[in-house]
Amino acid sequence: MMSLRWVCLILGVLGVTLMAAQNQQQEPTLRHAAEARGKLIGFAMARGAVRKGEKAYLDTAAREFNVIVAENSMKFGLVCPKARGVYDFNDADAIVEFAHTNGMKVRGHALLWHNQQPKWLAEDEWTKQEMTDIVGENITTMLGRYKGKVYAWDVVNEAISDSNDANDVYRKTNYYDAIGSEYIDLAFKLARGADPNAKLFYNDYGCDFGGIKFEKMFNMVKGMKERGIPIDGVGFQMHLGFYAEGQSAKMVECFRRLKELGLEVQITELDVAIELPCDGTKLQKQAEIYRQIVEAACKESNCTAILLWGFTDKHSWIPGFSQGKNGCALLFDENYKPKPAYSAVLDALKDK
Ligand code: XIL
Repeated sequence: MMSLRWVCLILGVLGVTLMAAQNQQQEPTLRHAAEARGKLIGFAMARGAVRKGEKAYLDTAAREFNVIVAENSMKFGLVCPKARGVYDFNDADAIVEFAHTNGMKVRGHALLWHNQQPKWLAEDEWTKQEMTDIVGENITTMLGRYKGKVYAWDVVNEAISDSNDANDVYRKTNYYDAIGSEYIDLAFKLARGADPNAKLFYNDYGCDFGGIKFEKMFNMVKGMKERGIPIDGVGFQMHLGFYAEGQSAKMVECFRRLKELGLEVQITELDVAIELPCDGTKLQKQAEIYRQIVEAACKESNCTAILLWGFTDKHSWIPGFSQGKNGCALLFDENYKPKPAYSAVLDALKDK
């Protein structure tokens, strides 16, 4: 007869083996796959979904991602809408709290941008000194409040001109008009002073696969590095469409050139818009583009994070932005069902 001790031992070993097998069978998530490679995978959080406490949204967010950026809630016009110096941090705080409760990092977006400014700022004229003070107030207020809580900031967003003229470098914004192009250096210096531990990024669109705009941006950040301006990285927004198929090698080339300057890169606002109506063939093509971009980005040592501009088609800026022409741009459908793009990104995140 087998002793009771032996029976217990055998049952114990069987139990552990069974549990290990079950764990292996459990579907991995985006964040597990990214964490295994030391990368961050994230999304832009819609404040509507947070305010309503939408369960499917919050559960999916916590399960799949390890970094969050506020889609709107930290922009100047949203934190400081009423009057200079009068801040409302409710939405921004809620996002930071959600992130930290779920073991996620937070990216801050965006301190200086020509869009979504407070009315009191956008609709008035300011002298150089006044504008310098306003810029400083917003940077020190935001970085001060979220010191140690927001690990990286888009300090300046979309400052490069879209013009095809290589000599027309800067977008003519109210910051530029009042201060001159030095407003960019100034913003980074103020940000470093306000939170020496935060990573400081320049963020833009239309630089994703090289070209004139990338060259302008590259020269700008190169100059900043040479002048000793505290910039840590460049964010590539990557609001893409089907034109992006087969372009990832050009993205890698851009990443490598920035690496030579000692800069980190991140994909900060990835989505792949589909011209409506959406169908199975288009969803497969979209998945392929996501796969190409994420797979190539993950292999680059200076690319530390990939953030999507939302994760469910229920909350995406694309239909509104394209006036209903485009949609279906994200990884989950409107009912939180994973699309082919989800499996493609998961697969691309895995180290193969
Ligand atoms: C967009 C938001 O998604 C929209 O909800 C808002 O109405 C406008 O801004 N580049 C950026 C983001 O840096 O902040 C923008 O976000 C999308 C383009």
